[in-house]
Amino acid sequence: MKATTSKPNLPWKVRLSVSLLTILWNICRRSNGTFNRRLFSVTDRKAAANPAPVDGVSSSDMTVSADRNLWFRLYTPSSSSSSASLPVVFYFHGGAFTVFSADSITYDSLCRLFCRSLNAVVVSVNYRLTPEHRYPAQYDDGVDVLKFIDQNGGVLPCSADVSKCFLAGDSAGANLAHHVAVRVSKEGLGTINVVGLVSIQPAFGGEKRTQSEIEMNRVPIISLGFTDWHWKALLPHGSNRDHEAVNVIGPNAVGIVGLDYPSTIVFTGGFDPLRDWQRMYYEWLRKSEKEAQLIDYPNAIHAFYFYPELPETSLLVSQVKEFMSKQMSNVN
Ligand SMILES: *[C@@H]1O[C@H](CO)[C@@H](O)[C@H](O)[C@H]1NC(C)=O
Repeated sequence: MKATTSKPNLPWKVRLSVSLLTILWNICRRSNGTFNRRLFSVTDRKAAANPAPVDGVSSSDMTVSADRNLWFRLYTPSSSSSSASLPVVFYFHGGAFTVFSADSITYDSLCRLFCRSLNAVVVSVNYRLTPEHRYPAQYDDGVDVLKFIDQNGGVLPCSADVSKCFLAGDSAGANLAHHVAVRVSKEGLGTINVVGLVSIQPAFGGEKRTQSEIEMNRVPIISLGFTDWHWKALLPHGSNRDHEAVNVIGPNAVGIVGLDYPSTIVFTGGFDPLRDWQRMYYEWLRKSEKEAQLIDYPNAIHAFYFYPELPETSLLVSQVKEFMSKQMSNVN
């Protein structure tokens, strides 16, 4: 499981942007465990919700719990008729559990792309962040948004069909989606039926170092110093990376055999240090008798989908679309 060449082939603009993001992120991470949010906001500009259709998508924000700033941004394809039966995608953004939000331009653009291209209602969850809020705040927020919509289906547009729901996320958001999937398959939901999980370069880890982590310690964004810092910010004091939140297939993992865990598609990239963990997650799903599919983009770096100009971003959208159609045909 090694990268074939030492460097991804990327347009210079993407290379530059990724380098700047990496440098900035490294400066914002402080050795005393705090994060310089003010400095990071230079690269994390926000977009307001917009009820007017732009490129076929309208958006609005909805509060779930004001006291912990739990809310979601709802994206609706503006061409959909009220009699349509659109899938609902619960989206969990990435950012190592520490940065970005449902109104970050980066994620607003990505969710708009998903809404338009997948012809789906997208619920982008604004969960609490580390290091101010540790495990399990993020997972509680994720589950609570599902439960809120489960009990208040009327907040969604009439075109939304909650019998065809998907959980989706990238990086830390895909870690979150996994834990939400485990919890709702244990606890059960009322009207919401989760039929699939879209896991884009999920952030998992553990005490041991995998080959891809060691070999790719110098690729953009993710390094061992990066992941170690962010896991420490997430986990309760005194835990190590074999905590069930991080090492979902390790010694403390919650087993899913016998649970109604959704059919899953896992996306990996050849230049992502977390690739070995992601592949092991996929293998663990299969061993746990779950339906799972693995798609690897050999030239992709971690967070490649931040860049719509990369060919893998379009491929991702079309392969997610195909996966969703397949899962929905099993429901109907
Ligand atoms: C951590 O370091 C920053 C910058 O040096 C400082 O402003 C902050 O007060 C420190 N926080 C703690 C909890 O030590």
